[in-house]
Amino acid sequence: MSKRFADKGCIVTGGGSGIGKAVALRLAREGASVLVADIQDDKAREVADEIKKEGGQAEAFKVDLMNIADIDRMIQMAVKLWGRLDIMVNSAGLVKSQPFLEVSEQDYDRIVDVNMKGTAFCLQKACAQMLAQIPPEKRIQAASDRCNGKIVNLSSISGRRGRAYQLHYAATKAAVISLTQSAALAFAQYGINVNAICPSVVKTPMWEQNIADKAKSFGVDAVKESEEFIAKIPMRRAGSSEEMAAAICFLCSSDADYVTGQTLNVDGGFEMN
Ligand SMILES: NC(=O)c1ccc[n+]([C@@H]2O[C@H](COP(=O)([O-])OP(=O)(O)OC[C@H]3O[C@@H](n4cnc5c(N)ncnc54)[C@H](O)[C@@H]3O)[C@@H](O)[C@H]2O)c1
Repeated sequence: MSKRFADKGCIVTGGGSGIGKAVALRLAREGASVLVADIQDDKAREVADEIKKEGGQAEAFKVDLMNIADIDRMIQMAVKLWGRLDIMVNSAGLVKSQPFLEVSEQDYDRIVDVNMKGTAFCLQKACAQMLAQIPPEKRIQAASDRCNGKIVNLSSISGRRGRAYQLHYAATKAAVISLTQSAALAFAQYGINVNAICPSVVKTPMWEQNIADKAKSFGVDAVKESEEFIAKIPMRRAGSSEEMAAAICFLCSSDADYVTGQTLNVDGGFEMN
């Protein structure tokens, strides 16, 4: 495998599971040093250990994105370990599928705090660090010099249009598209690129959770419903975490130096906007 990310210091939030895990493994296999950050620190450790066993560089870090001080500590840890932060992938997230009329304030706050507020402050703190790494005299023409950082956020096809059963989740994923654009506009002149992807169906623990929620809240055969949903995807199949990682790593690579503020649907053709 090519070493596109040799000497790059990275953080992957939600790196203990699903898409984040596939991203952490792929970045590391291509030469990056990866801080695998997750609230499930046992899972993060397993991923970091797998990377180390393969001869790569990784450490695990326990982070709760609902705690802004934790986000600061995560960035400082990456800088302490790798000397700098070059790449950040914000994959951590929570889903809950439930009837619109049954969403409680607590449900709403939890999903918004992790998916929207957590992503917003990960972006703010990562951009601050990447900016601080550019010598002040070079900031004026930083974008033309070189790329000074890459950030990729996880939105969703649920962020492209509303979802009757995901009042909070769909709104947070739409917010991730907006946050991506705002950060891209704020930091494009410094050569810090911020993009996002929208997956459709990837059979991770989150997807299993979604199935379980639907079965519980709506009393439907959620597995059958899921297969019917997948049949509506033009490619007639779910995506894999590795396919998400491939698109994310493109956006993290120098091949995407002139791409910023974009949200790429990686969804088998489900959305086309
Ligand atoms: N799987 C899909 O079909 C799908 C579709 C569209 C979008 N997405 C998005 O992709 C991203 C990754 O999803 P996934 O399917 O890999 O899910 P996953 O559940 O496998 O992984 C998410 C990770 O986030 C971590 N996490 C949750 N709350 C956290 C918190 N407060 N602080 C730190 N970490 C926390 C979890 O511990 C978990 O390891 C999510 O943002 C999700 O919304 C997934």
